[in-house]
Amino acid sequence: MAQNKLITMDEFTIQETRKFPQATGELSSLLRDIGLAGKIVNKQVLKAGLVDILGKHGATNIQGEEQMKLDVYANETLINILKNSSDCAGIASEENDDHVCYEDTFSANSKYVVLFDPLDGSSNIDVNAPIGTIFSIYRRVSELGKTCTKEDFLQPGNRLMAAGYIIYGSSTMMVYATKISVNGFTLEPSIGEFCLSHPNIRIPENGKIYSINQGNTVKYTEGMKSYLNYCMESNKEEGRPYSHRYIGSMVADMHRTLIKGGIFMYPADKSSARGKLRLQYECNPMAFIVEAAGGKATYGNGNILDIVPTELHQRTPIFIGSKNMVNKALEFVAEKEMVG
Ligand code: AHG
Ligand code: MN
Ligand code: MN
Repeated sequence: MAQNKLITMDEFTIQETRKFPQATGELSSLLRDIGLAGKIVNKQVLKAGLVDILGKHGATNIQGEEQMKLDVYANETLINILKNSSDCAGIASEENDDHVCYEDTFSANSKYVVLFDPLDGSSNIDVNAPIGTIFSIYRRVSELGKTCTKEDFLQPGNRLMAAGYIIYGSSTMMVYATKISVNGFTLEPSIGEFCLSHPNIRIPENGKIYSINQGNTVKYTEGMKSYLNYCMESNKEEGRPYSHRYIGSMVADMHRTLIKGGIFMYPADKSSARGKLRLQYECNPMAFIVEAAGGKATYGNGNILDIVPTELHQRTPIFIGSKNMVNKALEFVAEKEMVG
């Protein structure tokens, strides 16, 4: 039956938190703030094709404002909105060398810290392909009432309170996961609200698509190469080869994987022993979302979410997606070959 009432993300989150009498609503307002940042970034993304007309990074526009690169703009937008939020003690961003602790009293009394990749897939901006923002929310481990510390940002993914992404695609969507469920909200531009469009997302246990930068094959391990051959052959699960899809924006490739099923991989290779993708800004949040949706995420020797980070910008190999496909890949990618 067609649903005739739009449920906004705020309404939904508030209804969900009411199920937990001890919840204070801080997480809901943090999600709302991240959604607001997403809407502001989205407005700028929509104009990205006009950059040659409106001015490039460093140029000054007609109002005398300096034009910013989209990833710098997204980063500053998130940092400023979360600074003004009463529920965020500090942030760490893929774009900043170190974490940032907000110094005011409100922030010092806030329970949460947020980590983000402000603009994922930035090489796709020029070709109008989907890009995104990825975020993670942890409860801080440092003492409440004081400024946050580095330890707050070096927690393993299994301690995440929530994680999600905003995809700037053919429509703009925000997807977020808590331990209980994953839900997707599509931006309704006429009212400027994210509205529930994909309730209780479950990733199919099997899929027909593998997603990897196959141009790197020459650098892959023998196990990895044999798994790719398996994907390209008529395998017994499908009776035909899998399809290959790779956009090169993790958010876009993962959004498809979550909805349609499949496997996404960025393995270690001869030139990068830990792969390319960042544990804290890309892999942990995606692993948390996929696991909450019933899928699996591994670095080859164990769960992504169990890695205890030692540095903010650490990288990890990743195999993530439909449970049965990830398990199959693990049969090929022998333990001894994994560097992660
Ligand atoms: P970012 O734009 O935040 O630097 O991330 C790009 C990442 C990720 O989105 C994508 O999956 C991957 O880089 C693509 O890398 P390759 O071009 O090496 O395939
Ligand atoms: Mn990224
Ligand atoms: Mn980025």
